[in-house]
Amino acid sequence: MGEFNILLLPGDGIGPEVTESATQVLDSVAAKFGHSFHYENDLVGGSAIDAYGVPLLESTINTAKKSDAVLFGSVGGPKWDDAEIRPEAAIIGLRKSLGLFANIRPVRVAPGMEDASPVKNDRVRNTDMIIIRELTGGLYYGKPKRRWTNKAGRMAVDSMVYSEREVDRIIRVAFELARGRKKKVTSVDKANVLQVGRMWREIANEIALDYPDVELEHQLADSCAMLLVTKPSDFDVLVTSNMFGDILSDEAAILTASLGMLPSASLAGLPSIGSSGTRKVRGLYEPIHGTAPDIAGSGKANPIGEIVSAAFMLRYSFGMELEAKAIEQSVEGVLAEGLRTADIAGSNESWVTTSEMTAAIVAGVKSI
Ligand code: IPM
Ligand code: MG
Repeated sequence: MGEFNILLLPGDGIGPEVTESATQVLDSVAAKFGHSFHYENDLVGGSAIDAYGVPLLESTINTAKKSDAVLFGSVGGPKWDDAEIRPEAAIIGLRKSLGLFANIRPVRVAPGMEDASPVKNDRVRNTDMIIIRELTGGLYYGKPKRRWTNKAGRMAVDSMVYSEREVDRIIRVAFELARGRKKKVTSVDKANVLQVGRMWREIANEIALDYPDVELEHQLADSCAMLLVTKPSDFDVLVTSNMFGDILSDEAAILTASLGMLPSASLAGLPSIGSSGTRKVRGLYEPIHGTAPDIAGSGKANPIGEIVSAAFMLRYSFGMELEAKAIEQSVEGVLAEGLRTADIAGSNESWVTTSEMTAAIVAGVKSI
């Protein structure tokens, strides 16, 4: 029995709809397992720009720090493309100020869903990997980072900077998670060109000595991009820097056909898998899809990415494995029954609305 404070940051576009779905599912879990989830709500991204003039308030960061976990929707949209500070600054700022250095993005092609993938059936079958992306360093944050003008014209610089500590802790997350899976880590860098890549590889090799039961392989980012399409089922745990992780995780996600189905966790430490109540790790949970402004409010949004993100929150921040599984099983159940939202329905299939899909998943949780 636990009491938990959850900060909801629904954001823009379909963010509020899918976050509402996730809280309904969380409430069904609370009722079934005897927990209490208390929610606080705040604006981020474009909606915060409209209300406060900035995408992320200091007070929101403070509330997030006091909460047990943050459930995030998505931010951005054409309305704010020319804003002085863009909506995306909200998520970049939250990651840094909450110290969420480990981004976990699972990519699993569920049995029976292979046909929906844009990649051939026999290639995607059995694909089940997690991508671990370093989230608070590298090109996104390195200094110098600025624009200026000189005699030759416009100039710009972003810097890829990593310390040993930053690389060490993210690679350890990969090895720890691999232990509970297929025991293989693929570390991705550009050691053939970049200094950061050489250091990254060196540190990965050193850490591997502490995990003799886990196999370590190295891949260069470019050939890794190719392998993700040609042999996706060869991967187990892939670990890489912020920029490469951003790119490769979108590429891997599309193997599953719908970005709308995939969750992510951004953590400030090692996940507390299976250690119910013993350790809480700070985390922010969000679907990997964007705000889809074209379908916002139409009932076409797929709530599964956010609902499964809520399951991740239960598992990684609250140590509630059974409760997380209940959500995941319910989602698998409704998909196996053939329920589809618009984004994953075949051209001849009928589809259900966001709230119909949510109701089916809630019913599934209750009956488990
Ligand atoms: C992601 C997104 C973000 C990123 C954007 C919205 C800033 O693409 O989470 O992958 O680049 O990290
Ligand atoms: Mg991205």
